[in-house]
Amino acid sequence: MKNPTRSLILMTGLAGLVAGRDLFAQPGATPPPMPQPAAARPVFVPPAMPPPVAQPSLDSLIKWDAERKDVTVTSGTPQAQFTFNLTNVSAEVVTINSATTSCGCTVASLPEQPWKLAPGKNGQISATMNLLGKSGTTVKTINVVSDKGSKMLYVQTTILPAAAPTQALTAMDRESNQKLAIADRQAVFKGDCARCHAQPALNKFGQPLYVAVCGVCHESEHRATMVSNLHAIPQETNAEFWKNWIAHGKPGTLMPAFSLADGGILSDEQITSLVSYLVATIPSKPAVQAIKPTASAN
Ligand code: HEC
Ligand code: HEC
Repeated sequence: MKNPTRSLILMTGLAGLVAGRDLFAQPGATPPPMPQPAAARPVFVPPAMPPPVAQPSLDSLIKWDAERKDVTVTSGTPQAQFTFNLTNVSAEVVTINSATTSCGCTVASLPEQPWKLAPGKNGQISATMNLLGKSGTTVKTINVVSDKGSKMLYVQTTILPAAAPTQALTAMDRESNQKLAIADRQAVFKGDCARCHAQPALNKFGQPLYVAVCGVCHESEHRATMVSNLHAIPQETNAEFWKNWIAHGKPGTLMPAFSLADGGILSDEQITSLVSYLVATIPSKPAVQAIKPTASAN
């Protein structure tokens, strides 16, 4: 048990002694061994390269406006765009061969491939992140690989939740909104109104689209008296009925026209998806009539 410790001390002592002896012995008698290790060293540590990293970074050759770009968007935004500006601050051509991303959802593009960036020249690497199905904060990397080293860039998107459509409006807001809509029933799709009445429709179809653009008015907890209850329409409904109301609305009321042709915000595909959803969800006969057979069966 004591032996290892003791021999360690012994060896250390011996080494010190030997080293000491050598130091004192060399200068006088033997030729100095100094030049040999000194000559061998530069091979392993080139003096021109300060950090001894495995993959040389492009930082000493290329100046980047940033290595990380952040974008904040509102929910429903389909894509986020990023642009990195870079300048070749070295005296040699840097050839950038690729810019690969960490996810299929993000695409980075070079002005040309391979991209030869001459000394003193600048240019841009652009990237697009597809935000479909994403929420919160997403960070992806872009690995830029050149003939002289590589560089990791970061792109970050923060998706803010859509302005909650259920958020109660102040009575004053509501009154002035109604006034604007009476003057122009398409006002809901313009200016700040679009935040709650148009933007939530982006990329939506069927039920989610209904909730986003129709539900705001028709399913509101505080549904205004002039807004119809779509679950108790006093007439037979069918695909034509829904399509006409959605596409054209009703002039002289607060019901806007949603088709693009009528100055609305919904594509034909979106309108068709709403019609299918409504036909499947809302009985074609008025609720009052549907009760009759049940009552007589009793
Ligand atoms: C912050 C979101 C938001 C904004 C911005 C907004 N609205 Fe609304 N709007 C609603 C909600 C929610 C309802 C449903 C009623 C409620 O809950 O207060 C509604 C309902 C309506 C109605 C149906 C009548 C009613 O009062 O219920 C009309 C018309 C209307 N808005 C027009 C407008 C116009 C015009 C603008 C722009 C000047 C606008 N809205 C801006 C959220 C918004
Ligand atoms: C800005 C508020 C608003 C929005 C958004 C809205 N509506 Fe309306 N809608 C109304 C109002 C107000 C009426 C009543 C019109 C009238 O006075 O006849 C109405 C009437 C209707 C009617 C006729 C109901 C009946 O009693 O015959 C249908 C159908 C309808 N809306 C469907 C929709 C659908 C589907 C959407 C979504 C694409 C939608 N609305 C979006 C305000 C709105």
